[in-house]
Amino acid sequence: MMSSTALAFIIAALSYVFFFSSSPKHHYHELFISASFSDNASVALNLRTLTRRPHVAGTAANAEAAEYVRSVFTSSSLKSHVVAYQVSLTYPVHRSLVLTPTESANPITLELEQERVGDSPYADEVMPTFHGYAKSGNVSGPVVYANYGRVEDFVRLKKEMGVNVSGAVVVARYGQIYRGDIVQNAYEAGAVGVVIYTDKRDYGGDEWFPESRRMPPSGVQVGTVYNGLGDPTTPGWASVEGCERLSNEAVELSGDAPLIPSLPVSAADAEVILKTVVGDVADGDVYPVGPGPGILNLSYTGETVIAKIENVIGVIQGEEEPDRYVILGNHRDAWTYGAVDPNSGTAVILEIAQRLDKLQKRGWKPRRTIILCNWDAEEYALTGSTEWVEENREMLSSRAVAYMNVDCAVSGPGFDASATPQLDELIKLAAQEVQDPDNATQTIYDSWIGSRNSVEIGRLGGTGSDYASFVQHVGVSAVDMRFGGGYPVYHSIYDDFTWMEKFGDPMFHRHVAMASVFGLVALRLADEEVLPFNYITYASELKKSAEDLEKLGHSIDVSPLIKSIEDLSTAAQGINKEKEGIKGALKVREINDRLMMAERAMTDRDGLSERPWYKHLVYGPSKYDDYGSKSFPGVDDAIENAKKLDTKASWENVQHHIWRVSRAIRQASLVLKGQLR
Ligand SMILES: *[C@@H]1O[C@H](CO)[C@@H](O)[C@H](O)[C@H]1NC(C)=O
Ligand SMILES: *[C@@H]1O[C@H](CO)[C@@H](O)[C@H](O)[C@H]1NC(C)=O
Ligand SMILES: *[C@@H]1O[C@H](CO)[C@@H](O)[C@H](O)[C@H]1NC(C)=O
Ligand SMILES: *[C@@H]1O[C@H](CO)[C@@H](O)[C@H](O)[C@H]1NC(C)=O
Ligand SMILES: *[C@@H]1O[C@H](CO)[C@@H](O)[C@H](O)[C@H]1NC(C)=O
Repeated sequence: MMSSTALAFIIAALSYVFFFSSSPKHHYHELFISASFSDNASVALNLRTLTRRPHVAGTAANAEAAEYVRSVFTSSSLKSHVVAYQVSLTYPVHRSLVLTPTESANPITLELEQERVGDSPYADEVMPTFHGYAKSGNVSGPVVYANYGRVEDFVRLKKEMGVNVSGAVVVARYGQIYRGDIVQNAYEAGAVGVVIYTDKRDYGGDEWFPESRRMPPSGVQVGTVYNGLGDPTTPGWASVEGCERLSNEAVELSGDAPLIPSLPVSAADAEVILKTVVGDVADGDVYPVGPGPGILNLSYTGETVIAKIENVIGVIQGEEEPDRYVILGNHRDAWTYGAVDPNSGTAVILEIAQRLDKLQKRGWKPRRTIILCNWDAEEYALTGSTEWVEENREMLSSRAVAYMNVDCAVSGPGFDASATPQLDELIKLAAQEVQDPDNATQTIYDSWIGSRNSVEIGRLGGTGSDYASFVQHVGVSAVDMRFGGGYPVYHSIYDDFTWMEKFGDPMFHRHVAMASVFGLVALRLADEEVLPFNYITYASELKKSAEDLEKLGHSIDVSPLIKSIEDLSTAAQGINKEKEGIKGALKVREINDRLMMAERAMTDRDGLSERPWYKHLVYGPSKYDDYGSKSFPGVDDAIENAKKLDTKASWENVQHHIWRVSRAIRQASLVLKGQLR
């Protein structure tokens, strides 16, 4: 006799097969990913057009790119419009970095220039290398080398190596944490200025672009150093014409703006600087930490402008549920030519728009509304998406089914995804249906899983791209996907079409495969009668994070959290059972609303302590690294604080934050169950 669990499993599996294959729109989904619908030549053409000129937010070149995106949307039968905002951006006006190697030596003025490769007629439009929202000022001090500029690097300098960072100009390398946090950590250690460079150990090699994919010695990673999200002058509300704005002084006091000047430099410039530093070498490192005797004079002047930015929005109205939104987004603005970051993603979105047009011409109409968004000013502070989410907060809160983000869509082989966990299963299923662009004998999923037992899906607690406002401010479930991950010429002048054609995606098959897998997930979300969300995965993810807290000691009691997660698991099993054999439009709608709103329940109106804009209590950035994709950010912050203070009250505060998260998870269970107490 078969055990009841085995029987339940078979019934579940059968209903699952039925659930997908029975969808009346399923044959359209197969068509969408078919070879006849895929067009690598058109992807390449779109990418070439988008990356012709450097297109920083607020420039004429980026407005031209917006017009191009809009024209492709319109010719793909999307109803399109531009949503413009007036936002605060900064551009470089004056930069200099002068090194005095020793008291008696002559000062050396560093280059701060990237060597050109190729013959772009638009090379003069590349902005001088700088940090977005960097503080203007002229500072000087002895050089202290601080490795990756993490909290632990500064602790080691002070406690283990006895180095006084006060009054120094810190030189740190890119690669482990968000650059804005490097500046912040250096400031807290007492530094007067910061230079961040691209170390050959992390990004370079014996050969470099155009011979290899590695960063040339003169390459510089540009980027923002602002620690908040959205226009700094409109925290929490949209930057529409004539709106309320904070003064520059108020922005400085906000805690998110950098308080000391900084500049990004190349490996070549950094080498010159680091040769003038003596002292101890940290374990496992190669450069002495100083201070000095080399002295750096750093001068930076930026201008702050209120500039117009443009989000381009294209809509396909849903046939049965026009008021339920499946939102796909990617940013358009780039620090330079932006072939990987972000226009590989833009090319993918345009390919999806063109395939959806072909589907519509064959008679397909989505059940729910599909919205394609082309964001502006992501590079500054995820600004375009954040302003739009702030402006539409309540509409999104009541209607958004999911947000799907693609940014650096392709930089090489190897699929990877991050998501809120109720979408894990859907992503895996879609990856099982699309062929791996780098191996004709297997699917994306087969390559992704490799020889492991399961694939690892990342989470969305960081602020690395435009999903942040959707997840962390409103509580919309979300996905982010890419092929290739980190790449050495990131944010440099070398992130151009030639790099992509030679190294990132020589035949543009990875772009095509990304359009297939990303688009397929979107189609499932838009067309399946019952939303393909599974909260069992959410509960098991939370359980793993909760178990990590059990080792804390200090009489911290994790059991309220564990209990709330067990309830969530029960609620998830309950709703999965309810989904089987469900009938009636209103009943379907009611179940879908519960599936959609359970993510919202993970948010709290008051937000994280001292960072009230971040409403999600499970996914949010760590205070010490905005890229850090942690779960329970409020608990993490409280733990960091308690470790520092080690007082009874500070550990009680950790317990309080564990209770807060437990209560949010309990709200999610009630929503999933659809029951009032
Ligand atoms: C820094 O020095 C430059 C060049 O000498 C000068 O133009 C600028 O006004 C100075 N900035 C500040 C904030 O003092
Ligand atoms: C560190 O250096 C600063 C500036 O030179 C000085 O004012 C301070 O007293 C020094 N701190 C220690 C602990 O030596
Ligand atoms: C660097 O700045 C210091 C302090 O303002 C100044 O005394 C020194 O002359 C400057 N050095 C160079 C090479 O400009
Ligand atoms: C492609 O996948 C097959 C397994 O299906 C594997 O044996 C082969 O090594 C893979 N080829 C490459 C180039 O990775
Ligand atoms: C598209 O793929 C084909 C092979 O499938 C290749 O011959 C062609 O060069 C590719 N097009 C581009 C623009 O890379």
